[in-house]
Amino acid sequence: MEINLKGKIALVTGATGQLGRVMVRTLASCGADVVVHYHNNKSMADSLVGEITAIGSRAVAVQADITDAASVNQMRDTIKSALGEPDIIVNNAMIQFVWTSVIEQDIADFQRQFDACVMQSVLTAKAFLPAMYAKGSGRFIGINTECSAQCNANASAYSLAKRGMDGLYRALAKEAGPNGVNVNQVAPGWTISDKDREEHTEVVPAYSANVPLRRRGTDQEIANVVLFLASELSSFITGVCIPVSGGNVMV
Ligand SMILES: NC(=O)c1ccc[n+]([C@@H]2O[C@H](COP(=O)([O-])OP(=O)(O)OC[C@H]3O[C@@H](n4cnc5c(N)ncnc54)[C@H](OP(=O)(O)O)[C@@H]3O)[C@@H](O)[C@H]2O)c1
Repeated sequence: MEINLKGKIALVTGATGQLGRVMVRTLASCGADVVVHYHNNKSMADSLVGEITAIGSRAVAVQADITDAASVNQMRDTIKSALGEPDIIVNNAMIQFVWTSVIEQDIADFQRQFDACVMQSVLTAKAFLPAMYAKGSGRFIGINTECSAQCNANASAYSLAKRGMDGLYRALAKEAGPNGVNVNQVAPGWTISDKDREEHTEVVPAYSANVPLRRRGTDQEIANVVLFLASELSSFITGVCIPVSGGNVMV
């Protein structure tokens, strides 16, 4: 059995980020044409497009602010002209911010996190799902986090936004299912990525001691589950959020 995404077009938002870059490489390695979405990091996006076209898939870099409806709709139109209509959407982009207590957190941070986590998926659903519904197939995947199950102190803005995202995906799965579109989420634990490899911070015993599998997962292990949800192997799965956290959270 092999995963074959030839003929499929996948958009990964935040493809220039730590996890997104591995997602686009992985989807392309199984034959998908990919949209490398970026916000500021054009040079990383161009470099990924170069890598992906070198292995024989089509790829295009597209800039957008995922919190802005006009920008997301412009991205949809650009993708349609460059590659066609996406079959797979991965809402992965994230706005990073300072983690602190509810009392200390800037009020604007709560809105920014809501915009990044919930409104990103609302805007991409509005932009891309009508074409998937017309085709009667598609995959709409969100990247959540183990933090939404943990609701730790000093993580309220992130937790509330990702928990809001979870509500959206469960309702959307019920709306999209009759139209042939599967809607699912992946919830990574604290994941080893290029940044850790560069800074030699892969091993964090205090964190791993509480993880049943006793280690941090890798960017590739997250991308593998995204690939599964993007593929035919997950054809009868919708409305789930899969933790990829070595058992650190169980839902
Ligand atoms: N890394 C982890 O350990 C971990 C754990 C659990 C969950 N997650 C989740 O996994 C996802 C990816 O995380 P990450 O660590 O890979 O993030 P990251 O490295 O910080 O990357 C963030 C990405 O989002 C893009 N972005 C930021 N603001 C944007 C905006 N306003 N509009 C459009 N794009 C914007 C950035 O684009 P530019 O770089 O081009 O500006 C970048 O590609 C997130 O949803 C996060 O919550 C990550």
